[in-house]
Amino acid sequence: MTQHYMLLTGASRGIGHATVKLFLEKGWRVLTVSRQPFSEECRWPSARESHIQADLADLTQIDKLVAEVRERLDGAALHALVNNAGISPKGPGGTRLGVIASDALTWTTVLNVNLVSIALLARALLPELEAAKGSIVNVTSIAGSRVHPFAGVAYAASKAGLSALTREIAHEFGPHGVRANAIAPGEIATSILSLGTDQLVEATVPMKRLGTPREVAETIHFLCSETSAYINGAEIHINGGQHV
Ligand SMILES: NC(=O)c1ccc[n+]([C@@H]2O[C@H](COP(=O)([O-])OP(=O)(O)OC[C@H]3O[C@@H](n4cnc5c(N)ncnc54)[C@H](OP(=O)(O)O)[C@@H]3O)[C@@H](O)[C@H]2O)c1
Repeated sequence: MTQHYMLLTGASRGIGHATVKLFLEKGWRVLTVSRQPFSEECRWPSARESHIQADLADLTQIDKLVAEVRERLDGAALHALVNNAGISPKGPGGTRLGVIASDALTWTTVLNVNLVSIALLARALLPELEAAKGSIVNVTSIAGSRVHPFAGVAYAASKAGLSALTREIAHEFGPHGVRANAIAPGEIATSILSLGTDQLVEATVPMKRLGTPREVAETIHFLCSETSAYINGAEIHINGGQHV
Protein backbone atom coordinates (compact mmCIF):
# COMPACT_ATOMS: atom_id res chain seq x y z
CA MET A 1 0.00 0.00 0.00
CA THR A 2 1.22 3.53 -0.79
CA GLN A 3 2.36 5.45 2.25
CA HIS A 4 -0.17 8.22 2.95
CA TYR A 5 1.07 11.64 4.10
CA MET A 6 -0.84 14.35 5.91
CA LEU A 7 0.17 17.92 6.71
CA LEU A 8 -1.66 19.10 9.83
CA THR A 9 -1.46 22.63 11.21
CA GLY A 10 -1.97 23.24 14.94
CA ALA A 11 -1.11 19.74 16.02
CA SER A 12 0.24 20.43 19.48
CA ARG A 13 -3.02 20.43 21.47
CA GLY A 14 -6.74 19.70 21.40
CA ILE A 15 -8.33 18.65 18.12
CA GLY A 16 -4.97 18.60 16.31
CA HIS A 17 -3.39 16.32 18.90
CA ALA A 18 -6.31 13.85 18.67
CA THR A 19 -6.06 13.97 14.85
CA VAL A 20 -2.36 13.08 14.92
CA LYS A 21 -3.05 10.12 17.18
CA LEU A 22 -5.87 8.76 15.00
CA PHE A 23 -4.01 9.11 11.69
CA LEU A 24 -0.91 7.44 13.16
CA GLU A 25 -3.10 4.53 14.30
CA LYS A 26 -4.36 4.29 10.70
CA GLY A 27 -0.79 4.07 9.37
CA TRP A 28 -0.42 7.59 7.98
CA ARG A 29 2.78 9.68 8.15
CA VAL A 30 1.97 13.01 9.71
CA LEU A 31 3.83 16.29 9.25
CA THR A 32 2.87 18.94 11.79
CA VAL A 33 3.08 22.73 12.00
CA SER A 34 2.76 25.13 14.93
CA ARG A 35 4.52 28.10 16.49
CA GLN A 36 6.22 26.10 19.23
CA PRO A 37 9.31 24.09 18.24
CA PHE A 38 7.96 20.79 19.57
CA SER A 39 5.19 19.89 21.98
CA GLU A 40 5.83 17.61 24.92
CA GLU A 41 2.03 17.27 25.16
CA CYS A 42 1.84 15.70 21.71
CA ARG A 43 4.69 13.25 21.55
CA TRP A 44 5.03 10.15 19.39
CA PRO A 45 8.11 8.27 18.10
CA SER A 46 8.90 10.52 15.09
CA ALA A 47 7.20 13.66 16.46
CA ARG A 48 10.37 15.74 16.60
CA GLU A 49 11.47 14.99 13.01
CA SER A 50 7.92 15.43 11.70
CA HIS A 51 7.43 18.89 13.16
CA ILE A 52 7.93 22.18 11.33
CA GLN A 53 7.93 25.39 13.32
CA ALA A 54 6.10 28.31 11.68
CA ASP A 55 3.90 31.22 12.69
CA LEU A 56 0.92 31.32 10.32
CA ALA A 57 0.18 34.89 11.41
CA ASP A 58 3.30 35.91 9.46
CA LEU A 59 2.48 35.32 5.80
CA THR A 60 6.10 35.88 4.80
CA GLN A 61 6.91 32.51 6.46
CA ILE A 62 4.61 30.50 4.14
CA ASP A 63 7.13 30.04 1.31
CA LYS A 64 9.76 28.73 3.73
CA LEU A 65 7.20 26.44 5.35
CA VAL A 66 6.16 25.01 1.97
CA ALA A 67 9.82 24.47 1.02
CA GLU A 68 10.33 22.51 4.26
CA VAL A 69 7.21 20.42 3.64
CA ARG A 70 8.50 19.59 0.16
CA GLU A 71 11.86 18.59 1.58
CA ARG A 72 10.24 16.27 4.15
CA LEU A 73 7.96 14.72 1.50
CA ASP A 74 11.05 14.03 -0.61
CA GLY A 75 9.03 13.54 -3.80
CA ALA A 76 6.08 11.78 -2.16
CA ALA A 77 2.53 12.96 -2.79
CA LEU A 78 0.37 14.68 -0.14
CA HIS A 79 -2.88 12.86 0.60
CA ALA A 80 -4.29 15.32 3.11
CA LEU A 81 -3.89 18.94 4.13
CA VAL A 82 -5.75 19.57 7.38
CA ASN A 83 -5.96 23.26 8.29
CA ASN A 84 -6.72 23.08 12.00
CA ALA A 85 -4.58 25.83 13.56
CA GLY A 86 -6.79 28.61 14.77
CA ILE A 87 -6.83 31.45 17.28
CA SER A 88 -9.73 33.00 19.17
CA PRO A 89 -8.34 35.96 21.12
CA LYS A 90 -10.19 37.31 24.14
CA GLY A 91 -10.20 40.69 25.86
CA PRO A 92 -9.14 41.42 29.47
CA GLY A 93 -10.52 38.80 31.86
CA GLY A 94 -11.56 36.56 28.97
CA THR A 95 -14.13 39.03 27.61
CA ARG A 96 -15.58 38.73 24.11
CA LEU A 97 -13.88 40.90 21.46
CA GLY A 98 -16.81 42.46 19.61
CA VAL A 99 -16.62 45.08 16.85
CA ILE A 100 -15.94 47.99 19.24
CA ALA A 101 -13.23 46.08 21.14
CA SER A 102 -11.36 44.74 18.09
CA ASP A 103 -8.43 46.77 16.78
CA ALA A 104 -6.63 46.45 13.45
CA LEU A 105 -3.91 44.16 14.81
CA THR A 106 -6.52 41.73 16.18
CA TRP A 107 -8.25 41.60 12.79
CA THR A 108 -5.02 41.11 10.84
CA THR A 109 -3.64 38.42 13.13
CA VAL A 110 -6.85 36.41 13.30
CA LEU A 111 -7.52 36.63 9.58
CA ASN A 112 -3.95 35.66 8.70
CA VAL A 113 -3.93 32.56 10.94
CA ASN A 114 -7.53 31.42 10.45
CA LEU A 115 -8.02 32.27 6.76
CA VAL A 116 -5.35 33.81 4.54
CA SER A 117 -2.51 31.40 5.42
CA ILE A 118 -4.85 28.51 4.51
CA ALA A 119 -5.48 29.87 1.00
CA LEU A 120 -1.73 30.35 0.51
CA LEU A 121 -0.85 26.84 1.79
CA ALA A 122 -3.50 25.17 -0.38
CA ARG A 123 -2.36 27.12 -3.43
CA ALA A 124 1.32 26.28 -2.89
CA LEU A 125 0.74 22.58 -2.18
CA LEU A 126 -1.67 21.92 -5.06
CA PRO A 127 0.94 19.95 -7.08
CA GLU A 128 1.63 17.56 -4.17
CA LEU A 129 -2.11 17.22 -3.43
CA GLU A 130 -2.94 16.65 -7.09
CA ALA A 131 -0.33 13.89 -7.29
CA ALA A 132 -2.21 12.01 -4.52
CA LYS A 133 -5.76 13.00 -5.57
CA GLY A 134 -5.71 14.36 -2.05
CA SER A 135 -8.15 15.94 0.32
CA ILE A 136 -8.22 19.30 2.13
CA VAL A 137 -10.09 19.64 5.42
CA ASN A 138 -10.59 23.12 6.87
CA VAL A 139 -11.64 23.47 10.49
CA THR A 140 -14.31 26.18 10.68
CA SER A 141 -16.66 26.72 13.65
CA ILE A 142 -20.28 27.07 14.66
CA ALA A 143 -19.30 30.70 15.33
CA GLY A 144 -18.92 31.23 11.57
CA SER A 145 -22.68 31.02 11.06
CA ARG A 146 -24.16 32.67 14.19
CA VAL A 147 -23.24 35.08 16.97
CA HIS A 148 -21.48 33.11 19.69
CA PRO A 149 -21.33 34.33 23.30
CA PHE A 150 -17.56 33.79 23.65
CA ALA A 151 -16.01 33.90 20.16
CA GLY A 152 -15.21 37.41 18.95
CA VAL A 153 -16.09 39.17 15.71
CA ALA A 154 -12.73 38.65 13.96
CA TYR A 155 -12.87 34.93 14.79
CA ALA A 156 -16.47 34.63 13.54
CA ALA A 157 -15.70 36.52 10.34
CA SER A 158 -12.54 34.45 9.74
CA LYS A 159 -14.50 31.19 10.09
CA ALA A 160 -17.32 32.44 7.82
CA GLY A 161 -14.58 33.38 5.35
CA LEU A 162 -13.07 29.92 5.71
CA SER A 163 -16.42 28.34 4.79
CA ALA A 164 -16.43 30.46 1.63
CA LEU A 165 -12.79 29.61 0.93
CA THR A 166 -13.61 25.91 1.25
CA ARG A 167 -16.33 26.25 -1.42
CA GLU A 168 -13.94 28.15 -3.67
CA ILE A 169 -11.20 25.52 -3.32
CA ALA A 170 -13.72 22.71 -3.92
CA HIS A 171 -14.79 24.45 -7.12
CA GLU A 172 -11.28 25.25 -8.34
CA PHE A 173 -9.35 22.14 -7.25
CA GLY A 174 -12.12 19.62 -8.08
CA PRO A 175 -11.01 19.40 -11.72
CA HIS A 176 -7.52 18.54 -10.41
CA GLY A 177 -8.94 15.61 -8.45
CA VAL A 178 -8.45 17.37 -5.11
CA ARG A 179 -11.44 17.61 -2.75
CA ALA A 180 -12.00 20.32 -0.13
CA ASN A 181 -14.42 20.12 2.77
CA ALA A 182 -14.90 21.83 6.10
CA ILE A 183 -15.83 20.62 9.54
CA ALA A 184 -17.56 23.02 11.92
CA PRO A 185 -17.12 22.01 15.56
CA GLY A 186 -19.42 23.32 18.28
CA GLU A 187 -18.24 23.01 21.89
CA ILE A 188 -15.35 20.53 22.00
CA ALA A 189 -13.43 19.73 25.18
CA THR A 190 -10.16 21.63 24.55
CA SER A 191 -8.23 24.54 26.04
CA ILE A 192 -9.85 27.05 23.63
CA LEU A 193 -13.12 26.89 25.63
CA SER A 194 -14.19 29.75 27.90
CA LEU A 195 -15.61 29.81 31.41
CA GLY A 196 -19.38 29.42 31.12
CA THR A 197 -19.25 26.76 28.44
CA ASP A 198 -20.96 24.22 30.72
CA GLN A 199 -24.05 26.45 31.02
CA LEU A 200 -23.97 27.12 27.26
CA VAL A 201 -23.89 23.38 26.55
CA GLU A 202 -26.78 22.77 28.95
CA ALA A 203 -28.86 25.51 27.31
CA THR A 204 -28.06 25.04 23.61
CA VAL A 205 -26.76 21.54 22.87
CA PRO A 206 -29.51 18.93 22.45
CA MET A 207 -27.06 16.16 23.41
CA LYS A 208 -26.20 18.02 26.66
CA ARG A 209 -22.48 17.32 26.55
CA LEU A 210 -19.24 18.59 25.05
CA GLY A 211 -17.83 16.86 22.00
CA THR A 212 -14.48 15.11 22.29
CA PRO A 213 -11.42 15.88 20.16
CA ARG A 214 -11.47 12.20 19.08
CA GLU A 215 -14.99 12.59 17.64
CA VAL A 216 -13.76 15.53 15.57
CA ALA A 217 -10.66 13.59 14.47
CA GLU A 218 -12.84 10.69 13.26
CA THR A 219 -14.75 13.05 10.96
CA ILE A 220 -11.51 14.53 9.63
CA HIS A 221 -10.29 11.02 8.90
CA PHE A 222 -13.52 10.17 7.11
CA LEU A 223 -13.10 13.24 4.87
CA CYS A 224 -9.51 12.20 4.05
CA SER A 225 -10.44 8.63 3.19
CA GLU A 226 -11.84 6.90 0.10
CA THR A 227 -15.14 6.43 1.95
CA SER A 228 -15.90 10.10 1.26
CA ALA A 229 -14.59 10.04 -2.34
CA TYR A 230 -17.54 12.01 -3.80
CA ILE A 231 -17.94 14.53 -0.97
CA ASN A 232 -16.57 17.90 -2.09
CA GLY A 233 -17.43 21.41 -0.87
CA ALA A 234 -19.37 20.16 2.17
CA GLU A 235 -19.29 21.53 5.71
CA ILE A 236 -20.08 18.97 8.40
CA HIS A 237 -21.45 20.16 11.76
CA ILE A 238 -19.93 18.37 14.75
CA ASN A 239 -21.88 19.91 17.59
CA GLY A 240 -24.38 17.49 19.11
CA GLY A 241 -27.19 19.34 17.33
CA GLN A 242 -26.33 22.83 18.59
CA HIS A 243 -26.99 24.31 15.13
CA VAL A 244 -30.66 23.24 15.07
N1 LIG B 1 -12.38 23.61 20.79
C1 LIG B 1 -13.53 23.95 20.28
O1 LIG B 1 -14.57 23.83 20.93
C2 LIG B 1 -13.64 24.47 18.87
C3 LIG B 1 -14.88 24.85 18.38
C4 LIG B 1 -15.00 25.32 17.09
C5 LIG B 1 -13.87 25.39 16.29
N2 LIG B 1 -12.66 25.04 16.79
C6 LIG B 1 -11.50 25.15 15.88
O2 LIG B 1 -10.75 23.96 15.93
C7 LIG B 1 -9.37 24.25 15.69
C8 LIG B 1 -8.53 23.64 16.80
O3 LIG B 1 -9.02 24.13 18.01
P1 LIG B 1 -8.47 23.65 19.43
O4 LIG B 1 -9.54 23.92 20.41
O5 LIG B 1 -7.87 22.29 19.31
O6 LIG B 1 -7.34 24.80 19.63
P2 LIG B 1 -6.09 24.88 20.60
O7 LIG B 1 -6.12 23.82 21.65
O8 LIG B 1 -6.01 26.31 21.04
O9 LIG B 1 -4.89 24.59 19.58
C9 LIG B 1 -4.61 25.48 18.54
C10 LIG B 1 -3.44 24.95 17.73
O10 LIG B 1 -3.10 25.92 16.73
C11 LIG B 1 -1.71 26.24 16.84
N3 LIG B 1 -1.53 27.64 16.48
C12 LIG B 1 -2.12 28.71 17.07
N4 LIG B 1 -1.69 29.84 16.48
C13 LIG B 1 -0.82 29.48 15.50
C14 LIG B 1 -0.03 30.21 14.58
N5 LIG B 1 -0.02 31.55 14.54
N6 LIG B 1 0.77 29.52 13.72
C15 LIG B 1 0.81 28.16 13.78
N7 LIG B 1 0.09 27.41 14.63
C16 LIG B 1 -0.71 28.08 15.50
C17 LIG B 1 -1.37 25.95 18.30
O11 LIG B 1 -0.01 25.61 18.50
P3 LIG B 1 1.10 26.71 18.99
O12 LIG B 1 0.52 27.40 20.18
O13 LIG B 1 2.32 25.91 19.25
O14 LIG B 1 1.28 27.61 17.82
C18 LIG B 1 -2.22 24.72 18.58
O15 LIG B 1 -1.55 23.55 18.12
C19 LIG B 1 -9.27 25.76 15.58
O16 LIG B 1 -9.28 26.15 14.23
C20 LIG B 1 -10.53 26.25 16.28
O17 LIG B 1 -10.94 27.51 15.81
C21 LIG B 1 -12.51 24.58 18.07
